[in-house]
Amino acid sequence: MSTPTPSSSNVMEQIVSLCKRRGFVYQASEIYGGLRGFWDYGPLGVLLKNNIRDWWWRNMVECPPIGPDGSIVDMVGLDSSIIQHPKTWDASGHTATFADPMRKCVKCGHILRADHYWDILATQSKWFAELMTATENGAKTDVDTLARWVKNKARKSAPNLAAVAQPTITPPETADVKAIVHALADNNEPCILCGGALGSPEQFNLMMVSYAGLQQTKENLVYLRPETAQGIFLNYRNVLDTTRVKVPFGVAQVGKSFRNEVTPRNFIFRSREFEQMEMEFFCPPEDALKWYDFWKHERMKWWLSLGIKPENLIFRDHAQDELSHYSKATVDIEYKYPFTAPEFGELEGIAHRGAFDLTQHQSHSGAKLDYFDQDLQLRLKAEGVADDEVKKRSRYTPNVIEPASGLTRAVLVLLCEAYSVEPRAGVEKFEFFKFKPKFAPIKAGIFPLVNKDGMPEVAEKLYMDLRQSFACEYDPKPAIGKRYARMDEIGAPFCVTVDGESLKDQTVTIRDRDSMSQQRVAIDKVKSFINEKLDE
Ligand code: GAP
Repeated sequence: MSTPTPSSSNVMEQIVSLCKRRGFVYQASEIYGGLRGFWDYGPLGVLLKNNIRDWWWRNMVECPPIGPDGSIVDMVGLDSSIIQHPKTWDASGHTATFADPMRKCVKCGHILRADHYWDILATQSKWFAELMTATENGAKTDVDTLARWVKNKARKSAPNLAAVAQPTITPPETADVKAIVHALADNNEPCILCGGALGSPEQFNLMMVSYAGLQQTKENLVYLRPETAQGIFLNYRNVLDTTRVKVPFGVAQVGKSFRNEVTPRNFIFRSREFEQMEMEFFCPPEDALKWYDFWKHERMKWWLSLGIKPENLIFRDHAQDELSHYSKATVDIEYKYPFTAPEFGELEGIAHRGAFDLTQHQSHSGAKLDYFDQDLQLRLKAEGVADDEVKKRSRYTPNVIEPASGLTRAVLVLLCEAYSVEPRAGVEKFEFFKFKPKFAPIKAGIFPLVNKDGMPEVAEKLYMDLRQSFACEYDPKPAIGKRYARMDEIGAPFCVTVDGESLKDQTVTIRDRDSMSQQRVAIDKVKSFINEKLDE
C-alpha cells in the first residue's frame, strides 16, 4: 500500500448498505450482535451467487474450453466432504505451514494481521480516520494541528498512543503518513483500536478445528477444510478408476471452505467461512507449462464473460519469494476493488503445483498415485525414442495446474462492478445494481399497470409462464414508478407492464433498466425477447 487513506471505504459502505437494504448480504447472527468474519446471503444474494456458480460449472465442467491443440478437454465434477482424515492436512502442509503472522496489542489485547497492517489501519481505525482528517488526508501536515489532535481528540480515540502519554513526542514535519504514525507511536506500529504498542509477529494457524466423535480428545480432532482442493487430490485415484477420463483431465469442485482469518475484513472479501470454485488439472509433467498458460488465459476470458470491464482486471505474477510451498509458478487475476483502487486485489490464483500434492499424499497414505500414460508411450515409440527413455517418461506422477477462485469473492466483484449511482426523477443520487442480465438475481418484474380492469389476471398469467424459464417477480401494488425503481435498485434488467392496450392488442411494454426506454412487445414474444438478452 502506498499511502493509507480512509476515503476508499465510502463507496464500499454504500454498497454494503444497499446490499443490506435489498436483501443481498446480511451480517451473520445479527440479532446477537453479529459474528466477525461470517455473512449470510439473503434472498437476492443467494440467487446472484448461484448464477455465478452455475456459470462456472457450465463453463468448467459441462462445456469446458477446447484445449490448446484443438482437443476436447476431459473434465468431471466432485463434491467431497468438508471434513477429511486429519492426515490430509499433514500431507498437504497445512498443519505445519498454513499460518499468518499476527501481532497483539500489549495494552488492549487486540490481534491483527502483521503483513496487512497499513491496509487494516486505513480501513478500520477510527483514530486513524481522525488523524487523516486533521492532516487533510496527508496532504497538509500542519504540526500545530497534529499536536492539537494528540492533546485533545486522541486522548479519547487513541488513549494508549505513545504521543498521548509522553508529551516529549512531537509530530514530525512531513507529509509521509506512515512516518507520522511511526513517530507518534514512538517508532512502533500502534494498535488500530487504542493506539497501544503492538508485540512482535507470531505465526497463527488458520485451520478451524472440530471433533468427530463424542469425546473432545486429540484422537478425535479434525479440521474444517481450508480449501476444496485437497478433497480432489484424495479422490484422484477414484476418479481415474471409475470414469473414462485419462491424463490430461480436470476435476472441479465448488464448496465451502473455512479459515480462521486473523483479521477478516472488507465485507465478504476476506471472511472466515466462504465458498471456493477450484479445479485441479492433472497433466503430464512435460506439458505442465503449456496447460498453465492455457488455463491462465481461459480464466481471464471467463471473468470477462461476467461483464467485468477489462480495465478492472489484471494478471499479477507471484514473485519467487511469494510462492506457496507447493507452487512452481502462480499468477493471480486481480480486480480493482473500491478498497484497493487505484490498485488491485486478488480474485483468483492459477498455480502450477507440480507433483507436490500427489507425491505427498502417496507418501503419507501409501496409496499408489502415479500414472502409466499409454498414449504417451505409443507416441514416443512412434517418434523413435529409445526404449529406456520411453519407459522413464511414460510412467510419472501427474503435475497439477490449479485455477482457484472464491465464489463469495466473485459475488463481491459483481456487486462492486454493478454498483451505479445516477440522477433519476426526483432523486439526486439513485443507487442501483447494473448487473449483466445473465447474472441478475431477478430478470424481470411483471406488473399490471393498475390492480383492476382485467390487468392483474393477464399479468399473473404471464408471470406464471415466465417463471418457468427464469427468476421473475409479480407485483400488483400501486405506483408504477416505485415498482420500476425497486426493480432497478436490485438490478432486474426488465420490467414488463400489462396496461389498457394489452387487453385490446395482446401486447405489453418492456422497460429497459439502463436506458429506461420502453417498447411494446407481443405477449407471446416476451419470453423469447428476454431469453435472447440473457444469452448475450
Ligand atoms: N487451493 C488453493 C487456494 O485455496 P487461495 O489463494 O488460498 O488458494 C483461492 O484461495 C481463492 O479463494 C482466492 O483467490 C480467493 O478468491 C478465495 N479466498 C481465499 N481466502 C478467502 C477468504 N478468507 N474469504 C473469501 N475468499 C477467500
